[in-house]
Order: sequence, then C-alpha cells, then structure tokens
Amino acid sequence: MRTIATIAELRAELDSERAAGRTVGFVPTMGYLHDGHASLMRAARADTDVVVASIFVNPLQFGVGEDLDAYPRDLARDTELAGAAGVDLLFTPSVDEMYPRPVLTTVSVAEVSEGLEGAARPTHFAGVATVVAKLFAIVGPCRAYFGAKDFQQIAVVRRMAHDLSFPVEVVACPTAREPDGLAMSSRNVYLTPAERAAAPVVHTALRSGAAAIAAGERDPAAVRDLMAQIITAEPLAELDYTAVVDADSFTVPDPLVGNLRLLAAVRFGRARLIDNVGVTV
Ligand code: PAJ
Repeated sequence: MRTIATIAELRAELDSERAAGRTVGFVPTMGYLHDGHASLMRAARADTDVVVASIFVNPLQFGVGEDLDAYPRDLARDTELAGAAGVDLLFTPSVDEMYPRPVLTTVSVAEVSEGLEGAARPTHFAGVATVVAKLFAIVGPCRAYFGAKDFQQIAVVRRMAHDLSFPVEVVACPTAREPDGLAMSSRNVYLTPAERAAAPVVHTALRSGAAAIAAGERDPAAVRDLMAQIITAEPLAELDYTAVVDADSFTVPDPLVGNLRLLAAVRFGRARLIDNVGVTV
C-alpha cells in the first residue's frame, strides 16, 4: 500500500490504472479505523482491481460546538489496518489540500437531508455531500462503499451521485457490531467504561422495535415510543430521537408497511451515537 497526500499525485496514479483498464473501488473515511471500515475495504477488494481509501476529517461536516478538534486520529494504526484490509492507495490530504480557498461551492441534497440527522445537525449533510462529490471527482471510482450504520448518509450520497451524474455505483455494506451489539464507531472511544457498558441499549431498543413490528404492531408512534422508553430507562443515555421510516423515502408510513428502517440517535456523555436496523412488512 502507498500513502498519497496530494490530489495531483493520486490523479496521476489512478489515471494510469484506468488507462490500463483496471477498475477503481473507493472507501471514504475520517480515519480512526475499526473493523466496520475494514469490512468496506474488504468488499472493495473483492469487487475491484484497485482499492483506494481516504482518511480526511472533513471540517465542513462538523457543526459549531461539535467534536471536530477532538475527533480521534491515529494514522500509524490506520495505515496498518488499511493495508491488512487490502487497500492499494491510502489518500490522506490535509485540510489545505482539500480546501485551499474559502469554500464558495457546496452541494446540498433536499428532502433526504432534512429529517433525523439533518434536523439534529443542520449543516452536516451538505458538508458530507460536498466532500464526497469532491472525493468522487478526485478519485474517479466506478464503485464506492458506504456503511449502513450511517443509513441516511447513504441515501444522501446516492441521490447526490445520481443528480450530479457521477458514474459511481454506491454500494451499501452491513453494520459491523461488537459482540454485545454496539455498532462499531470511531466515536465509541469517547465512552467511559460505564457508558460503554450501557451503550448496547441502542441496538436492544432497535431490535425490540423491529420485533414489535414483526409481531404485528403497525402504529409508527407506538414503535417509536417503545424504542424511546427502552433507551430512556438507561440512566446514562440521553435520547436524541427514535424513528421508524420508509427505507427509501424517509417518510413515516401509517400504518407501517413496506421496507422499513428503525433509527436512533443517543448521547452518552461526550459521545453521540447513531444506529439503525431494517425490517420488512
Ligand atoms: P466515517 O464515520 O469514518 O465512516 C466511513 C465509512 O465507514 C462510512 O461509510 C460509514 O458508514 C462506515 N462505517 C462506520 N462505522 C461502520 C460500521 N460499524 N459498520 C459498517 N460501516 C461502518 O462517514 C464518514 O466517515 C464521513 O461522513 C465520510 C463519508 C467519510 C465523508 O466525510
């Protein structure tokens, strides 16, 4: 694996790979890699000839008062993990390399960006859509891999790629979890031991919501409230939202029917964790 920090060098390298007829798979990340990230890299490795991963903590997607400065970083460990997961080129641009001038052009995706995470973090998805559009333009992948853990992010990226005619297939990969169900996340490092012990309640609540639907519950408010009750019963958890939505439109079907997604956002001390599960009626 080679590590490349400039856009020009990465473009030159990938131009010659594409000229030789090789397909490029891409995994964008913010680093502090874990097995969830590695699972995306392994999927790219299995599908494409040249695997590119990026590590860039994108300032544009952090709101005021969020954890941009505290966001965990460990490039030495990340380099080892990415190499072991089959990455060929690790792109590690600086903030100056990505944003050498004030950002006057941003990409915002209406509707799918507006509820849930978009409501809780109003500038977040425009920051994500903008950096992912830039990265697609820099890397030129034919496939890009994203984790279902950030379910709404995939919808935003898919729509952005479609609306801007990027010739990129957006591939969704399943959420990697710790043995107790907690979704792997770079932000889990913020959890104290007591918060870490409490955090699996998020997945427990989502599974209970899915089980209620499987058992015949069709009232979205009842499912939302059931999940909220389970989470608020945990003293260290501070509920942001629970929701059940149509997996494609993010609207709330009433009665519940079709391909559904149950989602939650919960704070434990400094950490704000999100998770989701799917169920089909
Ligand atoms: P980051 O949080 O580092 O995540 C990078 C990718 O890894 C995302 O597609 C995310 O959904 C996926 N991922 C994270 N945890 C996962 C898990 N437990 N299982 C499976 N996949 C997981 O998401 C971002 O960075 C940024 O918003 C980014 C897309 C890179 C744009 O800056």
